[in-house]
Amino acid sequence: MAIVPKNISDTLQRILYPGSDKNIIELEMVQEIRIAGKRISFSLIFQKEDDPAIRPVSEACTDEIRREYGNDCEVAITPKSSARMAPPVLPGVKNIIAIASGKGGVGKSTMAVNLAVALANRGAKVGLVDADIFGPSIPKMFGEEDSHPYFEKIDGRDRIVPIEKFGVKFLSIGFFAKKDDALIWRGPVASNALKQLMMDGNWGELDFLLVDLPPGTSDIHLTLVQTVAVTGAVIITTPQDVALADVVKGVSMFNSKSINVPVLGIIENMSWFTPEELPENKYYIFGKDGGKDLAAKMDLPLLGQVPLVMSIREGADSGLPAAVNEESATGIAFGDLAEELIVQLERRNIYFKPTEKVKVRRR
Ligand SMILES: Nc1ncnc2c1ncn2[C@@H]1O[C@H](COP(=O)(O)OP(=O)(O)OP(=O)(O)O)[C@@H](O)[C@H]1O
Ligand SMILES: [Mg+2]
Repeated sequence: MAIVPKNISDTLQRILYPGSDKNIIELEMVQEIRIAGKRISFSLIFQKEDDPAIRPVSEACTDEIRREYGNDCEVAITPKSSARMAPPVLPGVKNIIAIASGKGGVGKSTMAVNLAVALANRGAKVGLVDADIFGPSIPKMFGEEDSHPYFEKIDGRDRIVPIEKFGVKFLSIGFFAKKDDALIWRGPVASNALKQLMMDGNWGELDFLLVDLPPGTSDIHLTLVQTVAVTGAVIITTPQDVALADVVKGVSMFNSKSINVPVLGIIENMSWFTPEELPENKYYIFGKDGGKDLAAKMDLPLLGQVPLVMSIREGADSGLPAAVNEESATGIAFGDLAEELIVQLERRNIYFKPTEKVKVRRR
């Protein structure tokens, strides 16, 4: 075989990382392959500078290359530690949670806002990013439509100071676009705007950073998972059939091999309607238990069922989220929802490895 980087890389695929069933190419440990005649050099990326695997892996690489290309090959390997190479993204943020839905208008933003407030009510440090370029609605739901976050120079870098209300720090794409402009933003502009909110926002220490995504699957979803390591996703749906078909699509996107973000659970919203004057009555306007049954079928946790309640809609429109009033029936319901989310998140963090940022693939 010719000594070219592609062939070297194929050869090195035979070397598994000690104690793992993954090979060193798959783990993206091999970088900067250079060839000069029979001199082959490359860097090997390890997690730690004194990683015990450095020697066995380097020796295995040399042996494998000489076996394939001849004993007269000179193999020069430079071990590097990844800790030095890429500092963690948002080091102060413990959990990043994507709030998604298959279909529009199912109450994603309403759930994101009320969950954020309910988590903050429990003493957590909470941030919220409105990534819905097609219809940023978080500023309105917080009654901060006319706010303009300011920039602050921190360590020589311009950082955006999030708006803080009801114990939640938040930023929205809507703050940086003229009203109605966001609708016509082209993909790359929107993607850059989201990256900027995530990376330049001065989030500080957070227990949870929720991200309210646009409906369906979009470039924005991809940008998010490529920018930060998303801990988990929450999918919102109504009990209705059309909404449910889209849930399956949303779940498979997060579960796909390339994205690989665990789905923490499903929230069924608009589960029933109870008129104030008939508090015992439940009207299943969009069907009964659709989201609950789907969660069971897909083996996903149901985080809760949220009824259609006038005060939830009024709260969203007036800038006073229903969860702010902790004592009210809806306040208690969102509190329960927040607690179930924490339970599922803790389970996730025990049973699954931390998510990795999705690598941008160049074509
Ligand atoms: N449980 C509820 N009870 C009453 N009204 C609700 C409830 N959930 C959502 N709404 C209302 O339904 C409308 C749509 O909700 P919301 O904007 O949160 O949906 P969305 O999924 O974010 O929509 P989009 O796809 O446009 O981003 C809003 O007017 C909101 O106030
Ligand atoms: Mg929305």
